[in-house]
Amino acid sequence: MKLSVIGAGYVGLTTAACLAQIGHEVFCSESDSEKLAKLQSGGMPLFEPHLEDVIKTVRQAGRLFFGSTEEAIAWGDAIFICVGTPPLANGDADLSAIEGVARAIAKRGSGYRLVIEKSTVPVQTGAQLRKHLSLHSTNGLTCDVASNPEFLREGTSVEDFLHPDRIVIGVDSSRAADLMHEIYEPIVKQEFTCPIHAGCPKRKEPVFLVTDTGSAELIKHASNSFLAMKISFINMVANLCEAVGADVTKVAEGMGLDPRIGPAFLNPGIGFGGFCFPKDVQAFIRIAEKSRCDFSLLKEVEKINQRRVEYFLEKIAKELWVIRGKKIAIWGLAFKPNTDDVRFAPAIALVKSLVGEGAQVRAYDPEAMEKAKSMLPNITYCSNPYDAAEGADAIVIVTEWDEFRVLDWKRLLSTVEHPLIIDGRNVFAPEEISRNGFRYASIGRIDSAPCQPTVGETIDSSSSSAGNRAQEASV
Ligand code: UDX
Repeated sequence: MKLSVIGAGYVGLTTAACLAQIGHEVFCSESDSEKLAKLQSGGMPLFEPHLEDVIKTVRQAGRLFFGSTEEAIAWGDAIFICVGTPPLANGDADLSAIEGVARAIAKRGSGYRLVIEKSTVPVQTGAQLRKHLSLHSTNGLTCDVASNPEFLREGTSVEDFLHPDRIVIGVDSSRAADLMHEIYEPIVKQEFTCPIHAGCPKRKEPVFLVTDTGSAELIKHASNSFLAMKISFINMVANLCEAVGADVTKVAEGMGLDPRIGPAFLNPGIGFGGFCFPKDVQAFIRIAEKSRCDFSLLKEVEKINQRRVEYFLEKIAKELWVIRGKKIAIWGLAFKPNTDDVRFAPAIALVKSLVGEGAQVRAYDPEAMEKAKSMLPNITYCSNPYDAAEGADAIVIVTEWDEFRVLDWKRLLSTVEHPLIIDGRNVFAPEEISRNGFRYASIGRIDSAPCQPTVGETIDSSSSSAGNRAQEASV
């Protein structure tokens, strides 16, 4: 099929590339001219695992093109709208980009088109789209509107698109339902060349759920809000664990064994970030308010999350006493691993506060430093975790990148000034840290002090100022 995707952000670019991967001919537009030029010349405006390879393959095969919105509107029988819906000051989703695309389709589109909202939008946006498309159409355009919410996680979006648990579509005509089915058939049947797992056994077929437009729109907001609620819930349980001396890891494990609860999204930390959860929870609260439903539960979810960075700062201050003048290594700036996205990342607020209190910050993130630079201009960016830890009074882990899990502990111990790790993501088992000569403060678990290394153990702290002090202290 000939398909168009309007907007080449994380969602649009993944959607366009994966639709081309499963066999469609796709035209993707981007209004930011710099970004468009980059894509047209084979560059990538963002980091997302596997995406660059997929784009390269499908472009070589002549199934993916980049260009203007006008060209995209002229191209596809179905048009996916994947533009941004950022939050307004009052928490509402800003729908001006969606409206702009609707007007452009109405003005330039002709014949029949299926217009698909993939951007996360408030319930009833589909109805508005339908109304505007028919009100403003000038070239005899007839169209259906479908809602097709995305459930793509940054960092695994290609995998999520090609091997989803469910595909949700909201439609109000059988023609639209048939077209949506045709578009997704290769994924529903799991019959396409998988760019990630070449030659892997066939995956489980996803559920293809057909609803009305409003219900599909609600499924997206309700799903993200529910997941955010799980995170805030476990974060409060973590606070309680710290207060009573219990271990949140064990509590989460025990809870997650109940299939009605499940183990996912029960990792405590310094709060959820990114461009989806914070804005989607806010927007859902506003949608409920406008419909006279007081969704106060979600207001608490939001409040708990907003307090996480503050809570973590208190933890840092408890360890360091005075923050002013301290050298702090920040490991991780992205809102989660495997992405370069720093939008609404807890690291940004945390580092701003630390710098504001007079700390000297040396930061390292494998992918997100370029994007963080404009938000955090007054810190030192480093080329690896050890460089960031040079002379540090504390290492603070903010994002759980895999590369932080495998460390040369001897090197680290001889690099820092004080052997202290404050972990906002519970990357390590406390025993591992203390065995390697560090004091460890994490989330919802009992803090641990460094062990005295015994003969035959791997730590050689003789060359380390921090190592010497750690040993003296334990003697
Ligand atoms: C989310 C949804 O998962 C996805 O379905 C939707 O379409 C887009 O929004 P994403 O924002 O990429 O995806 O990240 P996700 O993996 O869901 O994590 C969101 C935030 O929650 C991150 O900041 C992460 O660190 C945090 N989180 C997640 C926790 O703090 N604890 C957890 O147990 C899980």
